[in-house]
Amino acid sequence: MSDQAVLRLVVLVSGSGTNLQALLDASREAGYGAEIVAVGADRTGIEGLARAERAGVPTFVERLADHPDRAGWDIALARRIAAWKPDLVVCAGFMKILGAPTIEAFPVVNTHPALLPAFPGAHGVRDALAYGVRVTGCTVMFADAGVDTGPIIAQETVPVYDGDDEHLLHERIKAVERVLLVETIGRMAREGWSVSGRRVRLGG
Ligand code: GRF
Repeated sequence: MSDQAVLRLVVLVSGSGTNLQALLDASREAGYGAEIVAVGADRTGIEGLARAERAGVPTFVERLADHPDRAGWDIALARRIAAWKPDLVVCAGFMKILGAPTIEAFPVVNTHPALLPAFPGAHGVRDALAYGVRVTGCTVMFADAGVDTGPIIAQETVPVYDGDDEHLLHERIKAVERVLLVETIGRMAREGWSVSGRRVRLGG
């Protein structure tokens, strides 16, 4: 490791965690510029948590069902995240909208398997396929109070093939998405960022 400050990441997951794995692998490389200090989830028994445990990264779980209402969960999740003093929170397949207690306390980066602003929401791949687009892709953006509406940081395209179904297309997008997420978080860590309105600029 260099003596350059290393960006502290808390990564949130809900599923298989292949994007998390890509970040875990990258952050082990000297000079990447970011380290994952904890991995959080909204559910137990997922491969994403197992990946963190295998990598020796601390984990926490905050389940919505354990709270009387959404507002209580929002506050509890923000506290769990804050305990790790992150510089940046990364949603890597985290399937819940974050509330104000988290998004107002930390910069939060999210990744989405479509070219926003087209096809936001939980079924971006299915919706793009159903619409008949020939090119889709993935987007890395800041989270805000809306559903996939925050300022866009980076995007990459992926072609749609005639034989695609949702699974095939999503797997092809995810291969591109993992690279884009790793590159984008690394650049943010090493070069910094600024946001002016909806425009995001990496570097000085
Ligand atoms: C990614 O495509 C992400 O954009 C979407 O769900 C997928 C998560 O995959 N929300 P994984 O859990 O990182 O494998």
